[in-house]
Amino acid sequence: MKKLQFFILLFIVFITTIARADEGMWIPMLLGKYTIADMQKKGFHLTAKDIYDINHASMKDAVLIFGRGCTGEIVSNQGLVFTNHHCGYSSIQSASSVEHDYLTDGFWAKKITDEIPIAGLTVTFLERIEDVTSKVLANVKPSDTEQEREEKIKANSDALIKANDANGIFDIKIKPFYYGNAYYMFVYKIYRDIRLVGAPPSAIGKFGGDTDNWMWPRHTGDFSVFRIYADKAGNPAKYSPQNIPLKPKKHFKISLKGFKKNDFTMVMGYPGTTQEYLPSYAIEVITQTKNPISIDLRRHILDTMDKYMKTNDKVRIQYAAKYAGIANYWKKWIGENMGIDRVNGLQRKQNFEKQFTQWVAQSNNQKQYASLLPHYKTIYHDIKPLVAVRQYIIEGLLAPNLMSLTRNFSLLKDWDKKTDEEKNKIQKLLQSRAKRFFKDFYLPIDKEIFEMVLQQYFEKVDKQYQFAPFTEFKTNDDATQYVKSLLEHSVATDSSKLYPLLNDLSSQNITTLLNDPIYQFRNAIIDFYLTHIQPQYSQFQAQLDSLNRLYMSAQIEFYKDKKRLSPDANFTMRVAYGKIGGYEPRDGVVYKYQTYLSGIIEKGKMGVYDYIVPKRLAQLYENKDFGPYGENNRLPVCFLASNHTTGGNSGSPVFNADGELIGINFDRNWEGTMSDLIYDTSICRNIVVDIRYVLFVIDKYAETHRLIEELDLVKK
Ligand code: ARG
Ligand code: GLU
Repeated sequence: MKKLQFFILLFIVFITTIARADEGMWIPMLLGKYTIADMQKKGFHLTAKDIYDINHASMKDAVLIFGRGCTGEIVSNQGLVFTNHHCGYSSIQSASSVEHDYLTDGFWAKKITDEIPIAGLTVTFLERIEDVTSKVLANVKPSDTEQEREEKIKANSDALIKANDANGIFDIKIKPFYYGNAYYMFVYKIYRDIRLVGAPPSAIGKFGGDTDNWMWPRHTGDFSVFRIYADKAGNPAKYSPQNIPLKPKKHFKISLKGFKKNDFTMVMGYPGTTQEYLPSYAIEVITQTKNPISIDLRRHILDTMDKYMKTNDKVRIQYAAKYAGIANYWKKWIGENMGIDRVNGLQRKQNFEKQFTQWVAQSNNQKQYASLLPHYKTIYHDIKPLVAVRQYIIEGLLAPNLMSLTRNFSLLKDWDKKTDEEKNKIQKLLQSRAKRFFKDFYLPIDKEIFEMVLQQYFEKVDKQYQFAPFTEFKTNDDATQYVKSLLEHSVATDSSKLYPLLNDLSSQNITTLLNDPIYQFRNAIIDFYLTHIQPQYSQFQAQLDSLNRLYMSAQIEFYKDKKRLSPDANFTMRVAYGKIGGYEPRDGVVYKYQTYLSGIIEKGKMGVYDYIVPKRLAQLYENKDFGPYGENNRLPVCFLASNHTTGGNSGSPVFNADGELIGINFDRNWEGTMSDLIYDTSICRNIVVDIRYVLFVIDKYAETHRLIEELDLVKK
């Protein structure tokens, strides 16, 4: 009896682990084979063809790449697009001026002619996907070196691109999957007349700021609204007042029905990078070498900025975006390391490797896999010091803002060989970059960061990687002195020194610029990197590329009948599915899956800089004026689900079982950010702004009713 109970228990555990496996970012074209059955079992009401179909309009036709690194979705038959506020941020900023600060105040185009064209902004549609593995690898031989292989792949891909781009109408990308075990071709169409339609004030769109970033409970109205314009025939065209709103193939319905715990959810979008199939040795290097160095350097940088931002309002505004940019991944890496620790990530990988090794030993034909893990072990052992120096260079030495400014001076090389037209263009470019630079530059901050990164390099980096001037230093003080002299003799530290030189590019002034000590120091760093780090590093990397390819195919074989493995993210369109639900961040604490407007009011009372509640929002809350968007007299704001997402999924549509939009993805939970290395359903969550809050802000807060009328609402 006891025994039977034990087996039943085991069986239940087994079933639930399978049923709870929300891991995976699936290729939309391949759902029909395996994944869709599992999705339907978990509640999805649609078919694989509803998601991806090249003969009829399907969901993939309304999901797009927004800008360069985000996702967006079409929500009306007039080309209206939803994405995140943080994805539209630079567009909103570029449309702003001193008189119109749309970041702070928000922007709402009251009529269609008020919509603001954003120069340089694009959206990209996926036309179709094609498996081109056999074509890309046609003449590749197992005996090829990694370099020969790369060259053949490049040539084959170039030929495919040429044959498929319809003379430039399409943008073609060919990408490796499963570490080069497969190749897929993506045919894209890029639209270039994109206009800003609406954005909430930052107090809504960025509510919680860096305090809440990567965190739950969350109350950010992280959305913005754009529109795609096309020529009269519906084709991409550069901006023209004659262009008209795009009539899309497909747009999403929006659900006001709400949802409950464990309801099916699906995300479609463009996840950037994950590394789920690396060996334990890689996890060790990432979590014990790479992350700690980067976290430490960034903490110093953030502390320095913070010190000056606290006491100087002008500096606070100047450095707000830089601070947020650096803090974002600083915080992510901290979460990642904690997460790996918490789920015993290293141990998990090692356990798998034990099983794998046994499996290899047992079967007859897997001998090629036998040397994989020992080989990995050696390479990661050897590459570790290089990884460390690289971080001290990339996250350290190159971090001072003056390094980025002086980098531009290289455009002045070989000046006499350039045409007048080229000279003119370069001069304008240098002038405008310098102007943008000094608008948000505060020398005392950069000086302190400069000193810190030099000291860190001198103190922490192995002797064999020290180069001049570091080899001359005896103490930390020498680094400080060195920086002092660099800054004293540089022409880049002050606009009053730099502008006159840029305004008159005489040969003497060009010599001065090219001899600038900061520019020269930067060159010395790059030179050292290219001669002493890069060659060895890329050799290891090539070996890892070929090991990864083999290990990936070995893992697919190992799991053959037990588990399907989704390819790592590579900024191609993917489908992730899971369900609504909270999690337990630590002992004794349970996080619910939904937040409400009342939570914004609560946070507003805490007196924290990141929690400023707009008066009008507080008024609407007082009046409980939620329109059709409330639920039991409360207004939903954000929610959690267990969809496997990563950077690039910002702005991604989140759907219910009927493929209706219920929210816009914008973040992950801190405890779950290790999902880029190891996904764990018990704790990994994506964070979504509830579509009812989005519509409430557009309708009730901003009273932009013309947009609501465009939408396809599914009412309660
Ligand atoms: N953590 C999110 C992402 O990785 C949001 C970043 C923008 N928000 C911020 N407070 N910095 O991109
Ligand atoms: N905020 C991220 C982005 O910009 C999404 C969060 C994540 O990394 O999952 O894509």
